Amino acid sequence: MFIQVDRNPEPGLIDILINGTVYQVSAGISVAAALLKLGFKHNRQSLVSGSERGPYCMMGVCFECLVEINQVANQQACLTQVTGGMQIVSQQKERHIPLPAEHDSLAYNALEKAQKEQVNAN
Ligand code: FES
Repeated sequence: MFIQVDRNPEPGLIDILINGTVYQVSAGISVAAALLKLGFKHNRQSLVSGSERGPYCMMGVCFECLVEINQVANQQACLTQVTGGMQIVSQQKERHIPLPAEHDSLAYNALEKAQKEQVNAN
């Protein structure tokens, strides 16, 4: 998501919230570009080692730029355009990933049934 400054369809500044603090950034840029421009060197911690990670490829390949955006974890910051009022939160190690909305799907019911049977067997 590279946009030439003179071709940015949304010129001007907008307010976004990063880890609870309001910042003004150029409209139309990616979340990763906004984070880097504001001086954030990392936006998440490695799940395994806890090392700090930050945007690397800026084109959706490396997944180093994952952040929580508007309460949804694991969003690729380099592929997401900033919008006014957007809430961005750094991710620290493990994060909760909610199950899909189809909780009552056959697969989910089968898994739940198998887990209950396993608990009862022990
Ligand atoms: S920076 Fe590589 S996927 Fe976003």
